[in-house]
Amino acid sequence: MSKEIFAERLRTSMAQQGKKQVDLIRAASEQGVKLGKSHISQYVSGKTLPRPDILHFLADTLQVDADWLRGDEPADADVRIADNAGDSMHSIHTTHKNNTVTEDRKMRTFKKSSKLDNVLYDVRGPVVDEAARMEESGTQILKLNIGNPAPFGFRTPDEVIYDMRQQLTECEGYSNAQGLFSARKAIMQYAQLKGIPNIAIEDIYTGNGVSELINICMSALLDDGDEILIPSPDYPLWTACATLAGGKAVHYICDEQSEWYPDIDDIRRKITDRTKAIVIINPNNPTGALYPKEVLQKIVDVAREHQLIIFSDEIYDRLIMDEEEHISIASLAPDLFCITFSGLSKSHMIAGFRIGWMILSGNKKVAKDYIEGLKMLSNMRLCSNVPAQSIVQTALGGHQSVRGYIEPGGRIREQRDYIYKALTDIPGISAVKPKAAFYIFPKIDVKRFNITNDEQFALDLLRDKKILLIHGGGFNWEQPDHFRVVYLPRIEVLKEATGKIADFFSYYKQQL
Ligand SMILES: Cc1ncc(COP(=O)(O)O)c(C=O)c1O
Repeated sequence: MSKEIFAERLRTSMAQQGKKQVDLIRAASEQGVKLGKSHISQYVSGKTLPRPDILHFLADTLQVDADWLRGDEPADADVRIADNAGDSMHSIHTTHKNNTVTEDRKMRTFKKSSKLDNVLYDVRGPVVDEAARMEESGTQILKLNIGNPAPFGFRTPDEVIYDMRQQLTECEGYSNAQGLFSARKAIMQYAQLKGIPNIAIEDIYTGNGVSELINICMSALLDDGDEILIPSPDYPLWTACATLAGGKAVHYICDEQSEWYPDIDDIRRKITDRTKAIVIINPNNPTGALYPKEVLQKIVDVAREHQLIIFSDEIYDRLIMDEEEHISIASLAPDLFCITFSGLSKSHMIAGFRIGWMILSGNKKVAKDYIEGLKMLSNMRLCSNVPAQSIVQTALGGHQSVRGYIEPGGRIREQRDYIYKALTDIPGISAVKPKAAFYIFPKIDVKRFNITNDEQFALDLLRDKKILLIHGGGFNWEQPDHFRVVYLPRIEVLKEATGKIADFFSYYKQQL
């Protein structure tokens, strides 16, 4: 193998695939292959040759033949890779000086399913990818993009960890598909205290986070073209799962002028004879809104009138500030079929343990067949994470340590007050003060900053100030005039971040 031929072919293949050195390093780390910056730059400049495993990794990633890349073919061999559309066959021709074609075969490549064409999940999307690239090249990024409490110093209550340790050896096998009896009993009792009617142990399903259960619920319900009402802005997993299931996510507006409450007239306008259900997210991500009883009652009235299923995502129901009370919409709708979701990712700072649940309540008769579908999908994934189920009873019972964070003087509450003031003090930025969770969704005066593309705004902020946040479009918000900030970092960090954001807005004019 010749260093020069290998280097030249590597450079050509990288150019043909539009890949830079950093892309190869990233792909390697994703696949657990050891490939450092210095290695790749030595290969590219022809100083060293790779080991066979690295050679194969490079060949696979660049979609070329490993023997060819190695330079076993004569130096004047040339490669032409014709990119066809679709699930494609790349033609690889290797031609020799004496004009005899020794190889002419098709290389099959694989595209993602077209079911994913309209699926959006920007909480981990292109702006986040750019941040990862910047980090790989040594830039420190301040991440205000994901609601993951642990990295910001929110620790799991000791008792939860202790109890999980104690039970670990009993959690080696699969559990019942819907979950351990003790966990479901605790969830059932929790739901009873919230006034959710007509529930028994078989109406409780545990999941690998609420995320998995959202996916199951959408897959089991929606036929191609069935419509489901989802808020805008939303937590984008709802829209993504509904779309992936073949359904049509129809977004109803939450009104910033009315504390971000759902606009009931807009909901009514968007109901058709294909509408099967309505989703509410209460408390809300990304707005931090908490819906009062009157608003919930109006949603129930519409759902009743049009016989809709109500899906209520209440994962932040234990993170309510200002001494307000959370009301489960299911408690107002005993005659409708409701599914209520919650979990421990946020209230117990164990997003990584993956434990959530859903509660089927109210008029279950009308959903007999759908419930069979839910059971099938639940059985198909065998069960949710059993060690995490084992601490549900501990977590839901007794002292709720999360209260210390949200009461006056508590960390989340202080951070909420800080971020609200700091952001709304910036000329051109306004916001509704959040009442729950740990997100704020400020509005940008787009005329002032010439903003027509909010993703571009997020990228510009990232590149200029090394701050990562998600643009409103990532939450299915149509206008380019909002962004979401996760205010989990400590006040000193928020201070630095908002200082930089204020400086950014002091000079920013979007160039297209
Ligand atoms: C509104 C909402 N629902 C569901 C989830 C997913 O939570 P889990 O960790 O239980 O999958 C999140 C996570 O951020 C969320 O904000």
